[in-house]
Amino acid sequence: MTRKILVTSALPYANGAIHLGHLVEYIQTDIWVRFQKMQGHECYYVCADDTHGTPIMLRAEKEGITPETLIARVHGEHLRDFTGFHVEFDRYHSTNSAENRELASNVYLKLRDTGLIERKTIEQYYDPVKEMFLPDRFIKGQCPKCGAQDQYGDGCEVCGATYSPTDLVNPVSAVSGSTPVRRESEHYFFKLGDCEAFLRDWTRAGALQNEAANKLDEWFNAGLQNWDISRDAPYFGFEIPDAPGKYFYVWLDAPIGYMASFKKLSIEKGLDFDAWWQDGSDTELYHFIGKDILYFHALFWPAMLKSAGYRAPSGVFAHGFLTVNGAKMSKSRGTFITAESYLTSGMNPEWLRYYYAAKINGSMEDLDLNLVDFIARVNSDLVGKYVNIASRTAGFISKRFGGKLAADLPTSELLIEVQHAATFISECYETREYNKALREIMRLTDLANQYVNDNKPWELAKQDGAATQMHEICSVSVNLFRLLTLYLKPVLPKLAAEVETFLNITPLTWADARTLLLDHGINAYQHLMTRVEQKQVDALVAANQQSLEATPDAHAPARHAEAQSHAIAPIAETITVDDFAKIDLRVAKIINAEHVEGADKLIRLTLDIGEGAHRNVFAGIKSAYDPALLIGRMTVMVANLAPRKMKFGLSEGMVLAASGETPGLFILSPDDGAQPGMRVK
Ligand code: 2FM
Ligand code: ZN
Repeated sequence: MTRKILVTSALPYANGAIHLGHLVEYIQTDIWVRFQKMQGHECYYVCADDTHGTPIMLRAEKEGITPETLIARVHGEHLRDFTGFHVEFDRYHSTNSAENRELASNVYLKLRDTGLIERKTIEQYYDPVKEMFLPDRFIKGQCPKCGAQDQYGDGCEVCGATYSPTDLVNPVSAVSGSTPVRRESEHYFFKLGDCEAFLRDWTRAGALQNEAANKLDEWFNAGLQNWDISRDAPYFGFEIPDAPGKYFYVWLDAPIGYMASFKKLSIEKGLDFDAWWQDGSDTELYHFIGKDILYFHALFWPAMLKSAGYRAPSGVFAHGFLTVNGAKMSKSRGTFITAESYLTSGMNPEWLRYYYAAKINGSMEDLDLNLVDFIARVNSDLVGKYVNIASRTAGFISKRFGGKLAADLPTSELLIEVQHAATFISECYETREYNKALREIMRLTDLANQYVNDNKPWELAKQDGAATQMHEICSVSVNLFRLLTLYLKPVLPKLAAEVETFLNITPLTWADARTLLLDHGINAYQHLMTRVEQKQVDALVAANQQSLEATPDAHAPARHAEAQSHAIAPIAETITVDDFAKIDLRVAKIINAEHVEGADKLIRLTLDIGEGAHRNVFAGIKSAYDPALLIGRMTVMVANLAPRKMKFGLSEGMVLAASGETPGLFILSPDDGAQPGMRVK
C-alpha cells in the first residue's frame, strides 16, 4: 500500500549558522524520508527558516540591516549548508511568507471563534531606553534564591531555581544596559487547559515515544497553563488581525510554518493541501524535533491544530542533543563546529551522515560525536569493509570479462541471506533505529568480505580453466555490493548514486532487493571513498577555535559584548577580623573535574581537603576551564559554607576565583608546597 507521508524537521532560527548539533536532526530526518521514498511511498519533506521574534529583530539592528535582509541572507546560508550535507527538502520556505501569514491568521481566528482565546493584562519588564518590552532572556540580574550574579530572567543556572523576571534582584536590560521598569500591557492567551481531554487521549494514542509521553504526564499533573501568544510592538512578526500593535509570538506562527511550507509545495506541485491537513485526513504527518521543544510540539501544536479544525500529528519524534568528545559543544575547545566549516574544510559530508546514523537509535538520549571514534568507525566500516568489496572484485569483471557480469550464478546462501535482510533493515529504518540497521549491514559486509577471502579470485585469475568460477565469484561479489549499497542508500545518497553509475543501473529502490544483476554490463570501477585523516579533523577543530577569536560570539552573554568601562568593582563594606575568622578557607586539591549535563556554566569538582575528606563542589567556571586540565591542581575553598542543594546535586563549599567586568575567570592557587587541608588565613 502506498502511504502519503509528510515529514518536517524543526525550523532553524534565521539568526544563526547551522552547526553539527542541528545536523543530528536534519540528517536523521533526511535518512527517514529517503528511506520512505525508496519504499515507493508518496513522501514530502518540508522545512523553513524560523524568522520572527526579538532576537532576530535585534540582530538585524546590530548589523545595521533590515530583518528582511538578514533573513534573506541566512536563508541562502542555511540552504547551502543543508544541500552540502545532502539534506534534500521538497520545500524549504520561510515563516515570513504570505502563506504563513494567511494560515497563522486563519488558525488564530478559528481559535478565537471557538472561545479559546482570552485577553488579560499582565505586568512585564520594559526597557525605557529601548522602548520595548523585554523577553525573559534579555533581562539579567541576581538570582532571588541563591544570590548568584548575572542570571537570566527565567531561571538560575547556579541553583536551578525558576522564577519570573520580576523576581530578579537588580535587574538590567541586556539590550541597553538600563534598569528595566514594570509596565502593564494586554496580552492574548490560548486556553490550553480547555484542550486537556483531547491532549491526554492523543498523548497515549501512539504518536509519542514512551519517554516523551511520560514527560507529558508530568506536565498534565502540574496543570496546563494558558499560553501567551501575543507580543507588543516593536516586534518582527505578524500583526494579530484584530489587535493592531500586537504581534503573534514567534512560537505561534513557527509550527504553522510547517503548513505554510507544504502549502507552497502544494501550489507548485498541484497537491491537494486540504486533503493533507483536514481533520480525519488519511495522510501521515511526522515532526522530527529536539527534546527541548517537546512542550511546543506535543501540547500547543496538536491542541492548536485540532481546535482550528485540522488533523493532529501522527507522530512527534524527539531526539537528544549532540555532545562532542563527551561534552557539550564548546567554542573555546573548537568543538562548536559549523556546517560551513566542515564543508569548506573538504571533509566528506557522508562520513558524518554515516557516523550519526550508526548512533541514532530512535530515543531521546544524547548522541556523542567522539572524534577519535569517528575516524576509526568511518575508515573501518566504509573504506575498509564496504568499498573494499567492489575494489577487490570489480576490476576482474572489467579486465577479464569485458565488463559483463555472469548470466548465471551458483546458488549462494550468502546472496539469499543478504536479499532477505531487506525486511529487517527496513523495519529498523522505519523505527528510526538506524544504529541497528547499520549494524546488520556491517555484519553482512563482513560476510561478503569473508566470501571474497575464502574464494580468492586473484588466485583463480592465475589458474587455467578457472575463468567461469572466477566470473561467478566476482559477479556474486558485485551483486552483494549492489545490495549493500541499496541498504546504505538512505544514509549515503551521493555514494549510492556513484555506485549506480558504476553499475550502470537506474536509481535503486527497496524493491530491487528482490532482483539480481545478471548478464549485465558495468562500468570500470573508480575509487569511491577516501579515508578520514586525523590531520583533517585537527584542522577542522582548529578552524572553529580560530573563528571564535576572530569574530564575537553570537550567543555570548551580553556582558561580554557590552563590557562596561569600570573594570574593577568598588570595595565592599568593611568587616571585622572576627567576621573574617568565621570563614574557614582551606587548601584543596582538585582530584576530579567533569562537565555537568544540562548546565551551561558549571563544572563538578571533587576536592580533597586533607585526611581523606572529599567535597563535591559545583563551580561556575566552565567558560574558562577545561575540566581535564583542572585535575591535580591545588586551589582554595570555603570549607564551612552551608551546603546548597542545586538542580544537579549538593554543593558542599565554594572554590575561590577572581573575576571582573572584563571576561575571564581565574582560580586561586597556593604556592607550591601547600598541602590539602591547610588553613588559609
Ligand atoms: O528551537 C528552535 O530552534 C525553533 N526555531 C524551532 C521551531 S520548530 C517549529 F515549531 F517551527
Ligand atoms: Zn540561584
